[in-house]
Amino acid sequence: MISRRGFVHTLGAGAAGLSISSTAKSYAQILGANDRLNFAVIGLHSRAYAHLASLKANQKCAKITHVCDVDSNTLKKFADAVQKSFGETPATDRDFRTLLNAKDVDAITIATPDHWHTPMAIAGLQAGKHVYVEKPCSHNPAEGALLVEAQRKYGKLVQMGTQRRSSPLFIDAVKKIQDGLIGRAYYAKAWYSNTRKSIGVGKEVPVPAVLDWDLWQGPAPRQPYRDNVQPYNWHWFRTWGTGEALNNGTHEIDVCRWALAVDYPNRVTASGGRYQFKDDWQFYDTLVTSFEYKDKLISWEGKSCSGMKLYDRDRGSVIVGTTGTVVLDSGGYEVYDLKGNKTGDFKEGKAAASSDLTGADNMTDLHFANFIAAIRTGTKLTQPIESGNITVTLLQLSNIAWEVQRELKLNPEDGRILDDPEAMKSWSREYEPGWAPHL
Ligand SMILES: NC(=O)c1ccc[n+]([C@@H]2O[C@H](COP(=O)([O-])OP(=O)(O)OC[C@H]3O[C@@H](n4cnc5c(N)ncnc54)[C@H](O)[C@@H]3O)[C@@H](O)[C@H]2O)c1
Repeated sequence: MISRRGFVHTLGAGAAGLSISSTAKSYAQILGANDRLNFAVIGLHSRAYAHLASLKANQKCAKITHVCDVDSNTLKKFADAVQKSFGETPATDRDFRTLLNAKDVDAITIATPDHWHTPMAIAGLQAGKHVYVEKPCSHNPAEGALLVEAQRKYGKLVQMGTQRRSSPLFIDAVKKIQDGLIGRAYYAKAWYSNTRKSIGVGKEVPVPAVLDWDLWQGPAPRQPYRDNVQPYNWHWFRTWGTGEALNNGTHEIDVCRWALAVDYPNRVTASGGRYQFKDDWQFYDTLVTSFEYKDKLISWEGKSCSGMKLYDRDRGSVIVGTTGTVVLDSGGYEVYDLKGNKTGDFKEGKAAASSDLTGADNMTDLHFANFIAAIRTGTKLTQPIESGNITVTLLQLSNIAWEVQRELKLNPEDGRILDDPEAMKSWSREYEPGWAPHL
């Protein structure tokens, strides 16, 4: 068996040093010291169950001591699931600020709607907690920049929930690409397809007695409660959500950016619309985006309402180089030569289905294992917030380009939009008075 010291050394050398067969379970066994980290999980409806499964997979090093949701039914159901899973009943609260006061909480995980991610993450950092924040880390680019600044100021760790960064399969593929597997990689395309139904036209209804609608809205300007907003459909309303490009594109565009080793582009163009249904949905259901770099290109094609696959996959990334192409998703990757003949095939894990809302998987177990190891041993995070925020900002810029219907020229140093004050207005958002995050 590998020694604890040896293991820490392997992690210290970077996640790329992990073997492809490593599992979170084996990390936990190796790191199995007595002191377990106390986690508080916030926002408990769907994705939080993947957090629960991943913390369970890392239970030798972590446990859930606190849980929080603004919906009492959701809160109780999740607390029961934690009890069943860990054998201990967590403290429950509808207001996350109460659990931030708990001295024994080491880390929080955030699986609320997007408009809460940055304000809650910053509050967590200010309370001295490490933060695992779901993608996208922010609702708009100004928030993302503020979160990066907050992480530096308060010094605790922030991992963003783009779990492919901790997957040995992706780490292996990206390393090989960067080592010249397909020559010089210059083009990457990511796509996503799903068959989402219409969200209809909502009507104002009384707020359910179990829900604290004021705290659900938090930083977002107040609106009456409607019957087609939550759970989940808030993704398609601009005041809370960020659209499919951020909802799913964050994963695959992040892989493209990682494989091509690029940060901010020089130019962004985006076209699309809400074509399939006419309803309350405020974003596109079909979007095609180009991110242009000096000598590289990334493109995104998101189809929320047509399940037609590309390269036989619901979702994935294809990386094109001077001598070949790699097609990859969470189930594996294939290598092709310039003529399209397959020269390599690596299968590992299970391809993520577009229809799986919680997305519990081994990659997430490993992403949590990395976060826990980073807290405990100082190993590097695989998706620290500075890096996660670049991918998120890119996709938010794609939303802005779609909204203003023109090309955006960017400062490649920080992604800020050049010579377009109107587009720059969407760099930030309007807040409910008194709720804007600040350091
Ligand atoms: N990494 C991944 O693969 C992955 C997969 C699915 C979802 N996600 C992300 O997870 C997040 C949650 O998605 P979901 O599908 O679970 O959404 P959901 O709407 O099903 O659940 C969100 C929950 O947050 C609660 N909530 C809202 N405001 C709150 C507050 N102030 N305090 C506590 N709880 C609050 C709601 O009551 C609800 O129970 C999203 O940002 C999504 O992008 C990531």
